[in-house]
Amino acid sequence: MRWYDLFAYTYDLQLEALYRPWRTELVEAAALAPGMRVVDLGCGTGQDFDLLVQAVGPEGSVVGLDASSGMLGRARRRIARAGWGNVEVRQVDLTGPWPEDLADVDAVVAAMVLSALPADGWEAAMRRAWGALRPGGRFALLDAHAETRTLQTRMVEWIAQADLDRAVWEPLEGLAPDFRLTVTGASPSAFGGRLVVATGTRPVPGGGS
Ligand SMILES: C[S@@+](CC[C@H](N)C(=O)[O-])C[C@H]1O[C@@H](n2cnc3c(N)ncnc32)[C@H](O)[C@@H]1O
Repeated sequence: MRWYDLFAYTYDLQLEALYRPWRTELVEAAALAPGMRVVDLGCGTGQDFDLLVQAVGPEGSVVGLDASSGMLGRARRRIARAGWGNVEVRQVDLTGPWPEDLADVDAVVAAMVLSALPADGWEAAMRRAWGALRPGGRFALLDAHAETRTLQTRMVEWIAQADLDRAVWEPLEGLAPDFRLTVTGASPSAFGGRLVVATGTRPVPGGGS
């Protein structure tokens, strides 16, 4: 986590404006409603928080999970600045056990994180997050993907400590009957690959939602 602790110093300055339009797409894809509880997986500095708070309203809540104390420090400052009483962040290594009290949540969003988790742990981490959804709950992810590695891809992979060749949506495709993948029109050169948004709803036993 030391890398992200350092990256935290410039992360917002470098990336906040760049990813903004795609965050809106991600949060729309999560189909949130007032009163919902949403987990922001690998929340980083909390760049999704304002959109999530807006979507779940004052009766809802947002829980950000991340392993980096540097990123979480920035996230806490963002929360304090905005005065959100319904947003909390926790230091959690997503390759380890899932927090027991985070069960039956309404939605999980994962922005640019599944590509940044270790190769031998990302899929299990995603499945644990999926398991924390209530039936009818929605998983929505935004990530970059590159079929071929350009110089820009390698630079982004190095900076983000990520693997852009990873098809992060594939486990969701197997889990969610209503799986949807959208390849956005985002410029490949700016992100090292194409940005994708994928969603899936946890089935309700016996049907309905
Ligand atoms: C590219 S950043 C994305 C942050 C945020 N979701 C965003 O969209 O700005 C990747 C994040 O994953 C977090 N991360 C990497 N490995 C992790 C792990 N094992 N457990 C929890 N968080 C992790 C990093 O600390 C970092 O905040």
